[in-house]
Order: sequence, then structure tokens, then C-alpha cells
Amino acid sequence: MNSLAVLTSGGDAPGMNACIRAVVRTALTLSMKVYGIDRGYTGLIEGDFTEMDRSSVSDIIRRGGTILHTSRCEEFKTVEGREKALKRLAAYNIEGLIAIGGDGTFRGADLLSKMGFPVSCIPGTIDNDLPYTDYTIGFDTAVNTVLEAINKIADTAGSHERVSVVEVMGRKCGDIALFSGLDGGAEAIIIPEKSYDINNICKTILENKKKGRLNNLIIVAEGAVEGDGGAKKIAEQIEDITGIEARSTTLGYTQRGGSPSGKDRGLGCKFGYYAVQTIYSGVTSSAVGIKNNKVFHMPIEDALKYEKVFDEELYNIFLTLTKNQEGKNAKN
Ligand code: F6P
Repeated sequence: MNSLAVLTSGGDAPGMNACIRAVVRTALTLSMKVYGIDRGYTGLIEGDFTEMDRSSVSDIIRRGGTILHTSRCEEFKTVEGREKALKRLAAYNIEGLIAIGGDGTFRGADLLSKMGFPVSCIPGTIDNDLPYTDYTIGFDTAVNTVLEAINKIADTAGSHERVSVVEVMGRKCGDIALFSGLDGGAEAIIIPEKSYDINNICKTILENKKKGRLNNLIIVAEGAVEGDGGAKKIAEQIEDITGIEARSTTLGYTQRGGSPSGKDRGLGCKFGYYAVQTIYSGVTSSAVGIKNNKVFHMPIEDALKYEKVFDEELYNIFLTLTKNQEGKNAKN
């Protein structure tokens, strides 16, 4: 293989830049030409390619976002769209593609590889919703961003003695809520994977009130509450049932930005290096991932077949640490 291209697609994630840097520099070390494709599959269809060198990726390892920009491209789902892309790649003599993104990116890459073009996929999404891998690039930074926000919200909630309901992202996956709820000391988490009972949550809040504590933190994952305004709705219900003031905050896109954590930079470096080595060695369809701290790859089609297994153990730890059971020697 003499040349390859790299793109980022779908929602951006902190650590994507570290990964682009690793792809470019590993490819150059293997004496390949490497092109950056602007705006994901849209740029691939339009032929928006720029040749990259070592300095094109200087000083980006610490930056959030993606220097290659990103898009969600409907046209790439069609055979015609992908044929246009193949023509563009052939015009530049590009022989392989590295696609960094989430579920939708992987589906597009799988279809392209089935048309005979070598592709390696790297998981990059804050949602951590690609079940074949333990972690995706961006998840750790997003959880840390939520924790930082929670710390600030908890300060003011403590002063005002209010309940805080914080809504986090994750699409249909409750991982950001579960991890930040555990690490942030939340009283309850509302996630798509588990049913919830608002009366039980209020019971906990009222039990805490008896002990003199009014500021409680509830984390709500987007998509976990039916209808619009998840966190707002929960805050209103809590206020009605408990009589304690409650406020909601939706963290939104703050979770997708910011300088990547050490863990996400590390994942970006390892995944980028490994994806290039894999495609260079002749593997035509690979999804790179990490399991038990070991980087591996498997065919993209197989990676897409995995169903998310909810981390019951972690959830049980969360429940154990939030239970209002003080034991028989408790003072109150
Ligand atoms: O997939 C990442 C994500 O941030 C999800 O958590 C969220 O549901 C979605 O993207 C938002 O997408 P958009 O950028 O299109 O609003």
C-alpha cells in the first residue's frame, strides 16, 4: 500500500485530533502518502482531499474537535454516493481509508469495504456505544467534563439547598450517566437501560432531608425520559412531590468539546497507529478496539453485530453506594 486517506465522521469527540496525528505520522513512517479528507463522507464524495505531512498535525494532540471537520452524510448511504467516492479515491491513487467515528461511520465504512475498498475503522464518539470495544475515543473526556460541571452545580445547589437534575448526552446509551453518576456521587441516575420510579427517587431525597441534607444530585441520560425536556420534567416532578426546590441543567455540547483527557489522547495514539499497521498489512476490513487494555481488530461487519451488554456490576456498585441504609449503629 502506497497511500491512504483519513476522515472523521458523525459527532466529533475529544481525542480525534490525537488519532488523526497518529494515523498521519504512522503512515509517513511507512513511506505512504497520506491525505486528510475534509467533512467526513461528504468530503469523500466531493473529493475534498489535502495531502498531509508531519507538520500538518503538529500541536493538535491537546486540541478538542477535529481539524478535518465532520458531517453526517445521507448520500454516502446510497450506492451512487459510494461509487462517486470510489472514483475520487481512484483519481488520487488512494489505496486505503481510515474512518474515525461512531456507529453510522462504521456502517458506511462496512459498505465501502464490501465494494472492495480497504477500510479500517476507529471508534470515536463520546457515547461509548460501540459494544465490541470497551472504550471509544472521547468518552473519558466527556465524563470528566460532566464531573467538572457537577462540581460547580453542587456548589450553588449546596448554597441554595436545592436538588440538581443534570441531563447528559449519550444517545441510547447510559454510560456517560452511569460513569459520571458513580464518580460524581449522584443520589440517582435515570438511564435508558433501566426503568425508574420517580417516587423512589423522591423517597431518597426526603430521607436525606431528614438528615439535614437538601442538595441532591440526579443525573438523567438523554432519551431516558419519555417526551421532551427530560431533566426539566424530572425537576418539576421532584419539586411537586418533595416540596424541595429543584433546578435542571442540560449540559449539551459542552460534553463534546474541550482538551482531551490523557486516556483519550492515549487511545487516539494507539488506535491510529494500530489501524494504519493493520490496513498496511493487507487487512481489508478492520474495526480497531480495546478489550481488557489490549488493542485488537476484527472485521467491521462483526464489530457491528455486537449488542451492548449493560454493566450490571457497575450499576450495582452505584446502587450500593447510594442506598440509604446506615446499619444498626447509625446515629440518624
Ligand atoms: O453521538 C454523539 C452525540 O453527541 C450524542 O450524544 C447526541 O445524541 C448527538 O450526538 C447529537 O448530535 P448533533 O450534533 O447532530 O446534535
